[in-house]
Amino acid sequence: MLRIEGLQKQYRTGDAALRGVDLVVPAGEVIGLIGPSGAGKSTLIRCVNRLVEPTAGRIFLGDDEVTGASRRALRRLRRRMGMIFQEFALVERLTVMENVLAGRLGAVPFWRSLTRRFPPEDVRNAFATLDRVGLLDHVDKRADALSGGQRQRVGIARALLQDPDLLLIDEPTASLDPKTSRQIMRLIGEVCAERRLAAVVNIHDVALAQMFLGRIVGLKAGEVVYDGPSAGLDATVLTRIYGEEDWTRTARSADGEPDDAAPAAPAPAPRLLRAAAE
Ligand SMILES: Nc1ncnc2c1ncn2[C@@H]1O[C@H](COP(=O)(O)OP(=O)(O)O)[C@@H](O)[C@H]1O
Ligand SMILES: [Mg+2]
Repeated sequence: MLRIEGLQKQYRTGDAALRGVDLVVPAGEVIGLIGPSGAGKSTLIRCVNRLVEPTAGRIFLGDDEVTGASRRALRRLRRRMGMIFQEFALVERLTVMENVLAGRLGAVPFWRSLTRRFPPEDVRNAFATLDRVGLLDHVDKRADALSGGQRQRVGIARALLQDPDLLLIDEPTASLDPKTSRQIMRLIGEVCAERRLAAVVNIHDVALAQMFLGRIVGLKAGEVVYDGPSAGLDATVLTRIYGEEDWTRTARSADGEPDDAAPAAPAPAPRLLRAAAE
């Protein structure tokens, strides 16, 4: 479980990127974090593993506090968080298998990683994980020979091999075609359900988020302005998050079912946060 309390981030240059975000993501739940460019989505994800140092607030992974953790404790905590980026930094000259095993580097002694000698159990695990993400036929291919969707699958496999409790996923489909985007979102949903992982997925494609994710958190100018079921993303909510626009083609109608239903997550009632305060 991920718990965020009163998270604030003020970059040295510029305005506050996060202005007091509260968020709980239980094990097994995948949330979609949406919002306009500059809303603070990437900052939020990076604060969770402290690639970006929060200005205020507290972050917990299970019972362990991430904020304030010593360097050593932080290293251990980061092993429990899998990061998947849009342009996942694969090592181009290494094979799929080598890239995936690199996910275990934090956990194998240094001399072993140097000589790329991984424990047989890790190698077995890597094969199983690559099979799960549909890359078994490509284990020996170099990363630079892969398609965008395949690269993203390597990123997912690499994160999973860490055996994380939480996945942090920043714009996983931004450079993928629509069909591949759906396949990747479906895979993310499935593996998180299978392993009871909590996940935060930054995604700017609202329709795609609605299609695959049960719960959506809408961020605007560093504040959560919506936290509720994806079915609650109507024109009013989208306007609250993104501003005025004709949302009739994006907002899912009440009786319209998506063609790829999200794995049914227990959906809390929509909460329009701060609506009353404004
Ligand atoms: N390294 C940085 N230094 C200064 N300002 C930053 C930095 N990263 C992001 N910002 C600012 O913080 C705000 C939120 O950015 P970001 O988290 O990237 O939003 P999003 O991912 O939703 O597009 C923006 O105003 C952006 O300009
Ligand atoms: Mg971003």
